[in-house]
Amino acid sequence: MRLVTYANDMAARYEEAEFAALDGLAVFRAMGPPTGYAEGAGLGDFTVAARGDHIIGFCFTQVPEGIVWWLGVVPDERRRGVGHLLIESAARATRVAGGTHLLAEPEDAPAARAFFQALGFRERGLRDLLIRR
Ligand SMILES: CC(C)(COP(=O)(O)OP(=O)(O)OC[C@H]1O[C@@H](n2cnc3c(N)ncnc32)[C@H](O)[C@@H]1OP(=O)(O)O)[C@@H](O)C(=O)NCCC(=O)NCCS
Repeated sequence: MRLVTYANDMAARYEEAEFAALDGLAVFRAMGPPTGYAEGAGLGDFTVAARGDHIIGFCFTQVPEGIVWWLGVVPDERRRGVGHLLIESAARATRVAGGTHLLAEPEDAPAARAFFQALGFRERGLRDLLIRR
């Protein structure tokens, strides 16, 4: 497995991974596809985890603010540390850009909350997700 900076010519492989990783998440059902991230190279820190030709995970982070906007690992590759590596990569990119925090807004899903808590994130407030179509 290797971490790679996303390039827009990975769009087809990215969208396959995005669907596999996020299908079932309320925000993904409400938004997409297409979510627009497939064209997101260079707009923030956008790192993907690749195994062979497949994208198995992705993380898009706004830097230097450290806002983790879009994170997923395909189901078959979960619990192997891929998400952890992606967040550590986002942390490095944020630090290099001069930021001091990472901020994540996980859905109210036990896995995502447990994941962020295991990585040291703590609840600092609650927000509602509002979407206008
Ligand atoms: C959340 C997500 C990215 C985690 O990716 P992952 O690669 O499986 O995470 P890791 O293997 O790096 O997990 C690191 C630690 O987080 C915790 N963790 C991860 N998934 C967990 C789960 N389902 N239940 C409980 N704890 C969990 C564990 O402590 C784990 O360490 P361990 O496996 O040694 O016990 C992945 O489950 C996912 O893509 N979920 C759907 C999309 C999503 O919710 N994205 C985040 C929204 S912002």
